[in-house]
Amino acid sequence: MRRPELDRTFALWFSSHRYSRRLHKTVRRLVPDSDVRFLLSESGSGKGAAFVTAVAYRLSEQHRLIDATLAEFKLTHEQLLQVKKRMRIEIEAGLRKKSHDHAKVKMLPTFVRSTPDGTENGDFLALDLGGTNFRVLLVKIRSGKRRMVEMHNKIYAIPIEVMQGTGEELFDHIVSCISDFLDYMGIKGARLPLGFTFSFPCKQTSLDAGILLNWTKGFKATDCEGEDVVNLLREGIKRREEFDLDIVAVVNDTVGTMMTCAYEDPNCEIGLIVGTGSNACYMEEMRNIEMVEGDQGRMCVNMEWGAFGDNGCLDDIRTIYDKAVDDFSLNSGKQRYEKMISGMYLGEIVRNILIDFTKRGFLFRGQISEALKTRSIFETKFLSQIER
Ligand code: GLC
Repeated sequence: MRRPELDRTFALWFSSHRYSRRLHKTVRRLVPDSDVRFLLSESGSGKGAAFVTAVAYRLSEQHRLIDATLAEFKLTHEQLLQVKKRMRIEIEAGLRKKSHDHAKVKMLPTFVRSTPDGTENGDFLALDLGGTNFRVLLVKIRSGKRRMVEMHNKIYAIPIEVMQGTGEELFDHIVSCISDFLDYMGIKGARLPLGFTFSFPCKQTSLDAGILLNWTKGFKATDCEGEDVVNLLREGIKRREEFDLDIVAVVNDTVGTMMTCAYEDPNCEIGLIVGTGSNACYMEEMRNIEMVEGDQGRMCVNMEWGAFGDNGCLDDIRTIYDKAVDDFSLNSGKQRYEKMISGMYLGEIVRNILIDFTKRGFLFRGQISEALKTRSIFETKFLSQIER
């Protein structure tokens, strides 16, 4: 077998040609299988110092350019304060009646008026749609002295063709997963109350009605936007003619998250998700929520802050990579803040940086491989693994 480490070009400096020929012969005899070449170095030792300097110069220039590019991802304290100020402006626009319709951060009322107080009791079904997987859960909540929550759940995949097919196909799939779960738990005849965690922006008029405003995060099933997703689920259940459920609530994942933690600690009044997408909710004073009648008490507001920046207010901190990821996404121009920070997009941002650095000759000897050109090939989980 050839030993590739012996495929070497030798740089030689000789004071006499006699030695040169002899060395040539000797080396070839010693490593006959190897590809050995000799280059004659002219005033090499002196010129070399210039080359060492030139290489160092080139590399430090490269490092400077790399650092300058990556520095755009680190916001200064002043920039962060700016972002905070702009977020506040957008929040107020979303809460006010006169600006709500045009606001990008929608500040959607959830009709959740209080957090749990520990007296909750019963068996409930829950669905969780909108992350990487679809989950069906049975949650048994017991109040009183021996407060406890018992949970059983099963995870189901949502194939991409279902995510991006018709609404009917999507909801039929969901209902078939529920059917499987009810069989699995042996509770098909029970007609339990159900809460539907549906992690997309919904305009709610009550706890059990939510009109999907627009899909986010790679979902694009047809005939759902503008529809009440609780109705779509009810219709799916009816089509199957196999079981019945009492759908009581549709909640955003931020709200579900807040409620779960509030059960442990009543001071918890903010829910924050940095997952496939990013969003937050919090308990707001009713008098500040102009979209809902009444000034008394409080209500949880689903901010839908993923859309922060959709009016261009974050353009000065969006990098060319953020813009490229946005341009090639299913919903370009939408969810700009989310696309800058959340799990569905971080890997793509890194891939775009790698491509640019390769084009600029900083990486992979300037050769962009087919793999690197493949969209979504660099998963966010790789980034987490590298960071870890
Ligand atoms: C997206 C959805 C939002 C959800 C968030 C986190 O931003 O629009 O409803 O809360 O992702 O899953």
